[in-house]
This record gives sequence, structure tokens and C-alpha cells, in this order.
Amino acid sequence: MTGGGSYADGLLGNDRPEERARLACIQDGVDGFTQQTLLGLGLAPGWTCLDVGAGAGSVARWLAGYCTEGDVVAVDVDTSLLGAAPEPRLTVRRADVTAESFRPGRFDLVHARFVLCHLPDRDAVLARAASWLRPGGWLVVTDPYQLPAQTSPFPSVTRLMHAYDAAHAAVGADLTWSRRVPSLLARAGLRDIGFAARPSCLGNGLRDRWRPLLDGVAPQMIDSGSVGAEDLAAFHTDLDDPGFIDIPQLTLAVWGRLP
Ligand SMILES: C[S@@+](CC[C@H](N)C(=O)[O-])C[C@H]1O[C@@H](n2cnc3c(N)ncnc32)[C@H](O)[C@@H]1O
Repeated sequence: MTGGGSYADGLLGNDRPEERARLACIQDGVDGFTQQTLLGLGLAPGWTCLDVGAGAGSVARWLAGYCTEGDVVAVDVDTSLLGAAPEPRLTVRRADVTAESFRPGRFDLVHARFVLCHLPDRDAVLARAASWLRPGGWLVVTDPYQLPAQTSPFPSVTRLMHAYDAAHAAVGADLTWSRRVPSLLARAGLRDIGFAARPSCLGNGLRDRWRPLLDGVAPQMIDSGSVGAEDLAAFHTDLDDPGFIDIPQLTLAVWGRLP
């Protein structure tokens, strides 16, 4: 990994309680969107699926429940939050997708959510993931598209989001990479490219998705010197204000099919 730390042991290691909260927050906020996307592509009970960077496993488990005549492989560098193999038809595999490969033509669906944008060699991993599809299979890549921090109506959010962007850039992540994905899928030989976006909510009472995300990288943001603990504390206070509502990021799902 570039830039002074790895993805797994740097920003987003699974060994911290913050990571558990962060993954739960992602799942609560995005699982509905992901399920809608996959069903829209014609997900069928007989499909063989791969979930890359499965995290706490909500998508892999949902796929295993849906694909009653197929099977699902969940791969992650850290499977500690996935458990052993909690579902029939679900295989949990500990592996680094930047180094590991799968048999070409093996899967009807390869799904990667909030993983590839964090990998410095993301373009190459995407191209390899496309090769794991069987003809007719879909590659679905979901990643953030971070809106410009300075366009927030809240100066406090602008400061926090600059620090959030910088903390990710320092470990080689690119929070705007998703915009390149439609073209990368086409260049990997996929067709029927499509995409959909879902706004991510900061504030707005119980609909807030950002407290666990910002708390999860608070040490790195504070270390960078661009924000202090008082900025995080002010953010927590602001969350009680019903007028504190912002959209700092879009979640972009992009898909393509191997002819
Ligand atoms: C932000 S989490 C997303 C989890 C899940 N996809 C979701 O959306 O709920 C990213 C996951 O990717 C995993 N990961 C990071 N780098 C990886 C790599 N090189 N190979 C496999 N998994 C990786 C992390 O361990 C983490 O569980």
C-alpha cells in the first residue's frame, strides 16, 4: 500500500469497535440500495456469486439466502467480522484480492462495495475481477463519490470533510474514483454498462450516517492537524440541531455484463 499505511491496519482495521459500528452504519444505509440494484440486474436463485471485501457480510449473507440453488463466496483480508461460514451455500475465504485470483469464468456475479476505491491498484483489480465472470455475468462496483468539501453549507462540515478526504488519500484511497468506473468496466470488455446513485445523509436526526464514519477515522484526522478533538465534539453537538442536514457524498453503483 502507498502513502504510509495499509488499508487493513491503517484507517479501517476490523480490530476496533469503531470498525464494527462503521460497517453496521454502511450496511444500514446502503443494503437496500444494493439489493435493489442486484435484483434489477436479474439476480436468480441459481447464480454463483463472489462478494469482494465482504466486511461484516450483510450482502454475502443476503445473496446466500437468495441464491438457494447457487453458492456464494465471501472474501476479505480480515474475516473476523464474517464468522466462519454461518449460512449454507456461503463460503468465507480469507484472502487479499490484490494478490489472490479466482478461476476465470467462475461467477455469475462479482460484487465489490466500498472496497476498490481504497486499493492503490484498484484499476488492475477491477480488470481482474471482470475476468472472473462467466459469459452473461455481472460485475457490480459500488463506491463513494465524495462531493467537494467546500460546497457544504456548514463550515464545520467543510473542515471535517477536508480532513476526511486527506486521511483517505494518505493511505492511497480515492473517494472520487467511482466516476471512472463506467469507463473502466467498458474497457475491461463489459457491456450494458449502467449506474445509479444514492445520496448519503449527514445529520437529519436519526437518519445521520456520518457520526460512525467520522468517529472511525477521528485519530487520523486529528493526527493530520487539520481538525481537533473540539471539531469532532462540535459535530456531535450539531447533530442535535434539526437544521443540521447535509449530503457530503453520493454512493455510486456501476455495473457491466460480460457478453
Ligand atoms: C469499507 S469495508 C466494506 C465492507 C462491505 N463490502 C460492505 O459494503 O458492507 C471494506 C472491506 O474490504 C476489506 N478489504 C480491504 N482490502 C482488501 C483486500 N486487499 N482484499 C480483500 N478485502 C479487502 C476490508 O477488510 C473491509 O472488510
